[in-house]
Amino acid sequence: MQRKISVIGAGKTGATTAQRLAERNYADIVLFDVVEGLAEGEALDLLESGPILGFDSMVTGVTIKDGQGYEHLAGSQIVIMTGGIARKPGMSRDDLVKTNQKIMHGWAEAIKEHAPQSILIVLSNPVDAITQYAAHVTQFPRERIIGQAGILDSARFRTFIAQELNVSVQNVDAYVLGSHGDEMVPLPRYTTVAGIPLPELLSADRLEALVKRTRTGGAEIVNLLKTGSAFYAPSAALAEMTDAIVLDRKKILPCTVRLDGEYGLSGVFAGVPVKLGAGGAEEIVKWKLTDEEVVALHKSAQAVREVLKVMGI
Ligand code: 2OP
Repeated sequence: MQRKISVIGAGKTGATTAQRLAERNYADIVLFDVVEGLAEGEALDLLESGPILGFDSMVTGVTIKDGQGYEHLAGSQIVIMTGGIARKPGMSRDDLVKTNQKIMHGWAEAIKEHAPQSILIVLSNPVDAITQYAAHVTQFPRERIIGQAGILDSARFRTFIAQELNVSVQNVDAYVLGSHGDEMVPLPRYTTVAGIPLPELLSADRLEALVKRTRTGGAEIVNLLKTGSAFYAPSAALAEMTDAIVLDRKKILPCTVRLDGEYGLSGVFAGVPVKLGAGGAEEIVKWKLTDEEVVALHKSAQAVREVLKVMGI
């Protein structure tokens, strides 16, 4: 195939993302890892599912060893960064910062060198700050460096709302903005169930309970799994972003991008509604927010700034 997508990290999230994308049959996939043989093994197994499932995307794996192997990034239209360590019970996403910053640093240098025209999608945590760090190293324009968090957080919110109201998740349209952490900003006013705004359907107490569960949705899974964090929903979110770019869908999705004055914020990455198409983050969509919502969004951005300080940028 002409189109190539690189997925960095062959752990559960990276491998599941590669699987979802290979099965879409619109690009060849290259999976990378530093653990010897892991990416090759996952890729080969995935490739061998093609004859059964009917896809013919090429899937290859690359081990990065002694600084070699990065050249396989060349020609990627999209690079998806899932590499890094995940949380264990009791850890916050911010606890991962120093380790994941270092890992992101090496990859950002490599992406800048070997795939300078690619669109980089970042999932590694703490995602808003790590995306900003990748932008700092690559100097990619803001259209081409996008973090994934809001789709996942919104999907969790949608799941909980659908369960609460006993309706299909397909009827629930929800948006969670801000940073991917305790300060995330679910927007009930812009959340609808078959067109009806959520505050008309739920009591304030129930609404608050669902918002709280959404904020701690990642930790809920970490506490259950004990040895890892969520990967099915995060990889589905990455695939939705990739679809929007590859198929030039112009889909409006909550994504982490650099804000240059939008929503009163500058020089910081945070989740806002973004139009995703072939050019990447083609537009930041500006919604009218209440004063209270703006305050929440700014508080969320402040949480990102605190992590940036720890990173030294
Ligand atoms: C989560 O919320 C991994 O941050 C991710 O599950």
